[in-house]
Amino acid sequence: MCGIVGYAGNRQAAPIILDGLTKLEYRGYDSAGVAVSDKNGDIDIIKAKGKLKVLYGLTDGGNKLNGLCGIGHTRWATHGEPSENNAHPHCNDDKTVVAVHNGIIENFSPLKAKLMRRGYSFYSDTDTEVATKLVDYYYKKYGEPLRAISEFALHVRGAYALAVLFKEFPGKIFAIRKDSPMVIGYTDGGAFLASDVPAILKYTRNIYYTDNHEIVSLSNDGVVFYNLDREEIRKEYTVISWDAEAAEKGGWEHFMLKEIHEQPAVVRNTVNYFLHDGKLDLSELNLSDEYFKDTESIIITGCGSAYHVGVVAQYILEDIARIPVRVEIASEFRYRKPVLNGKELVIVISQSGETADSLAALREMKEQGIRTLAIVNVLGSSIAREADSVFYTKAGPEISVATTKAYSAQLIAMYMIALKFAKVRATISEEYYTQLKNELLLLPEKIETVLGSKEQIQKFASEMMDKQDVFFIGRGIDYAVSIESSLKLKEISYIHSEAYAAGELKHGTISLIENGTLVLGILTQSKLTEKTISNLVETASRGAYVAVLASENTLGIPDSFKKVFRIPQTDEHFSASLAVITMQLFAYYLSVLRGNDVDKPRNLAKSVTVE
Ligand code: M6R
Repeated sequence: MCGIVGYAGNRQAAPIILDGLTKLEYRGYDSAGVAVSDKNGDIDIIKAKGKLKVLYGLTDGGNKLNGLCGIGHTRWATHGEPSENNAHPHCNDDKTVVAVHNGIIENFSPLKAKLMRRGYSFYSDTDTEVATKLVDYYYKKYGEPLRAISEFALHVRGAYALAVLFKEFPGKIFAIRKDSPMVIGYTDGGAFLASDVPAILKYTRNIYYTDNHEIVSLSNDGVVFYNLDREEIRKEYTVISWDAEAAEKGGWEHFMLKEIHEQPAVVRNTVNYFLHDGKLDLSELNLSDEYFKDTESIIITGCGSAYHVGVVAQYILEDIARIPVRVEIASEFRYRKPVLNGKELVIVISQSGETADSLAALREMKEQGIRTLAIVNVLGSSIAREADSVFYTKAGPEISVATTKAYSAQLIAMYMIALKFAKVRATISEEYYTQLKNELLLLPEKIETVLGSKEQIQKFASEMMDKQDVFFIGRGIDYAVSIESSLKLKEISYIHSEAYAAGELKHGTISLIENGTLVLGILTQSKLTEKTISNLVETASRGAYVAVLASENTLGIPDSFKKVFRIPQTDEHFSASLAVITMQLFAYYLSVLRGNDVDKPRNLAKSVTVE
């Protein structure tokens, strides 16, 4: 949520900052702003409501702002509506302290009241203006930026990545983070700061991941890190191995379409990384076979699509590894008082590794002494760093707000973990274990086959584009795919949809079925197919337009169903990996046909770092 970029070096700052912000626009896009300080430290600020292109226009691509040091921001509104006034950067009254911020200052109200009593006035609804003026207050009190920032950190509650310019320190940026991401880079050409690596990857691959409460000062001469006591600390950088192009559209119409098509490669990379010479090797997780044997139950938690991966995994783990599993929405789980005995494994799934609720759930579990395993895509992210073990998915940077390839990679991670549990606990035969491993190797090709039927799905989407309501139904893993399909559709097409366990529909929701309501049935679980077909027939009898997505071998589909899409046969435990592709394409084409901004759907942001 919100993206920040900073640059201090020997080149004009504003064009670099705007370029960086374009790579972060997935994080928020309701307003944007940039501040640049010249050689005397005088700071110019330009802000605009709307997407970044408005700011580009206003600043002539940054050329209207002169100076070698600056900060910029693209916003996803939390406090106050999207407007120029609420856009960042914010400043003190004489523009000598200017800041951008990503996160939420939870105690901003009492702090604001306190600052008002000390003579400060406020002109926006944001917590960031409070943060800026708090820094200003301590700067005036102690006359020193590092002290001002550490005092700020001691007095605020919440999450922040904060970057500040001080007029009296031309050419320097001071920054700090807590629970909101911030990466730092340095090259001959200067120092960079950003919410995410793609924003600065063009300039450097050497990235420092900052920890909570680390302060950093950036200038053309280098980057220096400090702790809250303002003592200098040494940090190692990580060399990023993926290319800047991986985070570019590369000729595709949208990032989402590109990322959908990257799924065979992503699945192949993740499978091949952990499965070689016929052996499944999860040694990277640092969990002994004994541990896999002794674990009494598994709790899987995450938000949105990551949570949906957990729902798929629950069916598989319980079926093949015979271990009790519960799946919890992280925003609920973090505030529950679960009954635990210390023999659970908590698996936190997150693409970004920064989702506030998932991170909080992880911390809650760690505090209770429960072992945690993170399935994360972004290297060095908070969840990855704080979990006891990490399974890094190999999806590469995912830019589109609607997740596709990261979801697919997370499924693979869960399949492998389930296989490991099953093998160690000897709950499946050696033969079946080998068969499942072989099936994993075949998934990329099968995903390619599903992608090959995209024209058919596009045509279907064009026939369905005026639908007001869509229902996705299925049983077992097909239900898990239904909830993901429904989220994908809502998120980018803005068509209302619901996902139901097929047997549950008649307990109330079937009253919503009218003439022409689209009901999409998913039929990949052979033992449950007949049951779901009966439920679909019940909706057809009430006027529904029924379409189904079935495996190659699924039999008994009534002729009265209006459309049948097929996916290749796979082991039924893995069918989510194929079924979801059709549904992603369906949502994608509907979004395009309805003229929506596919990659940046309204009201959303990619990385949800607020509660
Ligand atoms: O980064 P995370 O995986 O933790 O994000 C979780 C959800 O915010 C995310 O999956 C969201 O639901 C997607 N936009 C769905 O496409």
